[in-house]
Amino acid sequence: MSNTKNILITGGAGFIGSHIVRLFVNKYPNYNIFNLDKLTYAGNLENLRDVENKPNYKFIKGDITDSEFINKLFSDIKFDGVIHLAAESHVDRSITNPGEFINTNIIGTLNLLNAAKNSWANNKNNNIFYHISTDEVYGSLGNTGKFTEQNAYDPRSPYSASKASSDHLVRAYFHTYGMQTIISNCSNNYGANQFPEKLIPLVINNIKNNKPIPVYGKGENIRDWLFVEDHAKAIDIIFHKGKSGETYNIGGNNEWKNIDLVKKICEIADIKLNRKPGESEKLIEFVKDRAGHDARYAIDSSKINAELNWQPTLTFEQGIKITIEWYLKNEQWLNNVLSGEYEKYYNKQYKER
Ligand code: NAD
Ligand code: TYD
Repeated sequence: MSNTKNILITGGAGFIGSHIVRLFVNKYPNYNIFNLDKLTYAGNLENLRDVENKPNYKFIKGDITDSEFINKLFSDIKFDGVIHLAAESHVDRSITNPGEFINTNIIGTLNLLNAAKNSWANNKNNNIFYHISTDEVYGSLGNTGKFTEQNAYDPRSPYSASKASSDHLVRAYFHTYGMQTIISNCSNNYGANQFPEKLIPLVINNIKNNKPIPVYGKGENIRDWLFVEDHAKAIDIIFHKGKSGETYNIGGNNEWKNIDLVKKICEIADIKLNRKPGESEKLIEFVKDRAGHDARYAIDSSKINAELNWQPTLTFEQGIKITIEWYLKNEQWLNNVLSGEYEKYYNKQYKER
C-alpha cells in the first residue's frame, strides 16, 4: 500500500509556515505538500525559493475567508491532513484593526473546519486537523508560574482573543463532530524570515540602519523565546505522534525581559558590525507602551517533553547569533519586504509614540 499523503499547510509563505513547509517537503518525499496562502504583507514566496521546484510541493494562492473557494479546494483535492497556520499575527496591528483578525483568524478557521469535516465525513479516523496557536490565549502572568495546558483561557488583545476563539472552535469540532484535531500553543518564535514588525527582526534592522530602537514602556515585559526551527520540529512530532483531542504547549524555557533582550542583540550586533562596544545600545528609545500590554508569558512544556520527547535543540546564545547573522547577510530579503507598505505601517505605528 502506498503511503503517499496530501497535506495542506495554510500560511506556508509566512514566517513559521515557511519553515514547516521546508521541513516537510525535504523530510517526507512521499507527502504532497500544498501550501495555501493569500500572500498578505506577511506572506513571501521568496522564503521558499529553495523548495519551489520540488516535485512534492505545490503553492496555491487563496484566501481562507472565502468559504466557496475553500470548499472547492477540499472537493478537488483529498487532503489527509491539515496544518493550519494562516492568520493575522501581529498584536499591534490587531489593536488598530481588530476586524481583520476576527475575519481571518476566526471565520477563516471555521471555513477550514467545515470543509475538512465535509470532506472527511466518511473517513473520520484517518485524517487530522492540526491547529497552530499561541501562548497568548492564556493571558498574562505575574512574576511566578508558567502556562500549562490546564490554564483557563484569558486572552487580552484582539489578536489573542481571535486565536482563543479559533482554538475553541477546533475543540468544538472534536467534541461535537468527532473530527480528529490537535492544537499546540507556542511561545514567541524568532529566526530567519520573520517580518520586521516583530521585536527581534525590527531591532536588528534598526541597528543595521542606525535608526532608533523603540522599546515599549520601561522594557520590563517578559517573553519566552523559541528558535523557529525548534518549533517546526515540535510541529512535525506532534503532527505524527500527538494524540487527537489533545493540546500541547511548546516553549523555549528561555525568558527575557525586553530591555535585556534588546541590549543582548545590540551587544552581538556591535561585534558583527565592527562597532565599538555600547554603540548600538545608544539607539534605544523608550516609547509609549502598547495598550493592554501583557506583562509576562512563560510556557511549561513538560507535557510535550514527557509524552513526545521534544525539547529545544539550540541554546538562545546559538539561536540569536544565527538569527542576527541571517538578517545582516540577507540584505536583499530585508529590502524586498521593507517596501512602501512597511514604511506606511512603520510611520503610522511609531510616529505618535
Ligand atoms: P506570519 O504573519 O508571518 O504569517 C502568516 C501567513 O498567513 C502569511 O503568509 C499570510 O500571507 C497568511 N495569511 C494571512 N491571512 C490569510 C488568509 N486570509 N488566507 C490565507 N493565508 C493568509 O505569522 P507567523 O508568525 O508565521 O505565525 C503563524 C501561525 O503561528 C499563526 O497562526 C500564529 O498565530 C501562530 N504563532 C505564532 C507565533 C510567533 O511567535 N510568531 C507564536 C505562536 C503561534
Ligand atoms: P512582538 O514581537 O510584537 O510579539 P508579542 O507581542 O506577540 O509578544 O513583541 C515582543 C515584545 O516586545 C512585546 O512585549 C512588545 C515589545 N515590543 C517593543 O518593545 N517594541 C517594539 O517595537 C515591538 C514591535 C515590540
